[in-house]
Amino acid sequence: MTAMPRLDGQRGRSMNTDNNNPDSNPLDTPHADSDTRQRIRLDGVSKRWGAAAAVDGISFDVSPGEFVILLGPSGCGKSTTLRMIAGLERASAGRIHIGERDVTYLPPGDRGISMVFQSYALFPHLSVADNIVFGLRSRRVPQAERSERLARVAELVDLTAYLERKPAQLSGGQRQRVALARAIVSEHPICLMDEPLSNLDARLRGEMRREIKALQRRLDMTVIYVTHDQVEAMSMGDRVILMQDGRIVQDGTPSELYERPASAFAASFIGSPAMNLVALSAAADGAVIDGEPHCSVAPHEAKGHWLGVRPEDIHLLPADAPGVPAEMLDAEYLGADSIVRLRVGRQELRARLDGRPRLEPGQACRLQWARGAAHFFSADPEGQRLPIVGHDLGAPPGRRRFAPAPPGPASAIQANGAPASSSHVGNDSPGVNR
Ligand SMILES: Nc1ncnc2c1ncn2[C@@H]1O[C@H](COP(=O)(O)OP(=O)(O)OP(=O)(O)O)[C@@H](O)[C@H]1O
Ligand SMILES: [Mg+2]
Repeated sequence: MTAMPRLDGQRGRSMNTDNNNPDSNPLDTPHADSDTRQRIRLDGVSKRWGAAAAVDGISFDVSPGEFVILLGPSGCGKSTTLRMIAGLERASAGRIHIGERDVTYLPPGDRGISMVFQSYALFPHLSVADNIVFGLRSRRVPQAERSERLARVAELVDLTAYLERKPAQLSGGQRQRVALARAIVSEHPICLMDEPLSNLDARLRGEMRREIKALQRRLDMTVIYVTHDQVEAMSMGDRVILMQDGRIVQDGTPSELYERPASAFAASFIGSPAMNLVALSAAADGAVIDGEPHCSVAPHEAKGHWLGVRPEDIHLLPADAPGVPAEMLDAEYLGADSIVRLRVGRQELRARLDGRPRLEPGQACRLQWARGAAHFFSADPEGQRLPIVGHDLGAPPGRRRFAPAPPGPASAIQANGAPASSSHVGNDSPGVNR
């Protein structure tokens, strides 16, 4: 395990932690030096406010250099968890280790971390430069070293031209970078970030996502990053810890969460549009989608439970093809693709199709998906994933592509889902869509 490298390439020294909250600087005291302090471990950590548990016995490990996301809906306990790791909130139960040290009851400044808050919390009367080095100055880091570190960090986050400005003279993205610079200049190997991009517009968020990720790699930082935005989670995280009601629902790589959601909640939280979840009922030859008795989609044991299929895994075929009978309700054209709403029995599903669908509202069609695209979840409130394998509906390999032409080179579908010979394959066939 290594400490975060200094920006000049030398090994990081133990420095005081910065807090970018100007009202109080609880992280702003010296901490002990240790090479192993990047690893973070939570064992059965809880936080109760009176009778209510905001965080309920959660355990996880973060390895040095890992970028871990705490993801979940509003109020699920993400910020509380982060603040307990920072020491800004005291755990009601459980232990928190950073490196070999039990920090559960240590003050924030002794934990060797920096934190970036959602509100940048910059001093309005101080220049960008003074905001960035505020923590260093209050710890009496010598002037020469302060200037040197400021120059390096400013270049890193592209703020060199703005150092003399006041925060009010900056854009939201620039202010966000000042807050980041403040955390980085402290040279702590662990950085905790709580929704740091939520004040930015969509374009800037995209830019900052890439910048933060690149910075984290370059500086080999350990980052725990709180967000409720699944796009941030999927695109930035080495690992995503999904929370619901103070508990961990799933802890895995972004692709594990996408490919094998642990519960109906996880299935619906990751992916946009969300995974379709439809009720299954019993029929003679297996479980069928509720209200659609003709096409069995799973063995009998699936009845009464939920079937989950991602919109991008659904293939649409003409009404005379095999598959689940459906009726098109409407379509939302998004340019590169369309989201088509479909009725199957008493249930509604969404399919994501390339381009503009060649299907009219009210028109009948058939749906297919690959066996592996069907997920099953228990109908009880926990909604746990069930080890049921769906029927093979004869879907072609790949996702969300419909190739209605007869089998042959033109209609073959590549593993990446793109038609083999032409991106327009099937688009011109009558009465069908892609
Ligand atoms: N100081 C407090 N006193 C009482 N309850 C609190 C306090 N702080 C947080 N809570 C409660 O704890 C729960 C978790 O809050 P937390 O701020 O951790 O949620 P979050 O996941 O960060 O949500 P958001 O995405 O909205 O920021 C919420 O129900 C919240 O109301
Ligand atoms: Mg929060």
